[in-house]
Amino acid sequence: MRRLFPGPERDDGAALDEAGLVEAYRLPPGRALRVNFVASLDGATTVAGRSEGLGSPGDRRIFRVLRSLADVVLVGHGTAAAEGYRPITGDSPVGRLRVSLGRTPTAPIAVVSRQASLDPGGGLVAGAASPTILVTCAAADASRRAALADAGVTVLVCGEDDVDLPLALDRLAELRHEQVLCEGGPQLLRAALTAGVVDEVDLSIAPALVGGETRLLGAALPGPVRLHPRQILEEDGLLFTRYGVGRQGPGG
Ligand SMILES: NC(=O)c1ccc[n+]([C@@H]2O[C@H](COP(=O)([O-])OP(=O)(O)OC[C@H]3O[C@@H](n4cnc5c(N)ncnc54)[C@H](OP(=O)(O)O)[C@@H]3O)[C@@H](O)[C@H]2O)c1
Repeated sequence: MRRLFPGPERDDGAALDEAGLVEAYRLPPGRALRVNFVASLDGATTVAGRSEGLGSPGDRRIFRVLRSLADVVLVGHGTAAAEGYRPITGDSPVGRLRVSLGRTPTAPIAVVSRQASLDPGGGLVAGAASPTILVTCAAADASRRAALADAGVTVLVCGEDDVDLPLALDRLAELRHEQVLCEGGPQLLRAALTAGVVDEVDLSIAPALVGGETRLLGAALPGPVRLHPRQILEEDGLLFTRYGVGRQGPGG
């Protein structure tokens, strides 16, 4: 993995190892929401319905580093279901990297679902060392919410008819989950950008044209969101970009 931008004053020419990647992606202390996606050059986020067809060993290393730096992983229910999400475990590569960074071995997965679609008996609920969080709203079926709470899920009701994402981030921060990694999917990304709560977009760009498939943003945003580049890394032809959203923040 090599750094293309910024350089050369931030580049000693050495390939970035795992410790270098951790520093390349570390955020300053405090609240932040960063999103991580892999997409083809034409903006497809899946091949045959899954993201893995676009990834690479480097992309998976960055995925692990971002999870290791995060206090919580926020994901839409569609992605959690399509990608077979499971809780982070302490004996996984992410768990070991977190421990090596002096962090708790696990971090919770927070699933955003207006309908509280999470399965109380499913693999994302049972045996989670950091209990899974459901981010939902008051309109979600009360008995479903109760069943999930009984199964050990931390249920956050944020909003009446729809999930209020700024409120959800406040509630997560109250639980000491300040640095939030959002892993998508496209519907959640669109909602987060529309709500103005995204601080950073970490987009891996795969050298492929896919067409069709799920796009990074399915529907138009109310207006263009301006991004400014913080960092571009490269490996195996993939570009690993970090963009700040809207305003110049700490770190770039
Ligand atoms: N390439 C990548 O990096 C990447 C990353 C993520 C996902 N993906 C792909 O994207 C596809 C899924 O796309 P998607 O757009 O359906 O995913 P999504 O945003 O994860 O899921 C949509 C569902 O999540 C819940 N949700 C999302 N945003 C919400 C909000 N603001 N408020 C309330 N509920 C919200 C709703 O669940 P309920 O219906 O339960 O209310 C909604 O039906 C999958 O094929 C996945 O593989 C690719």
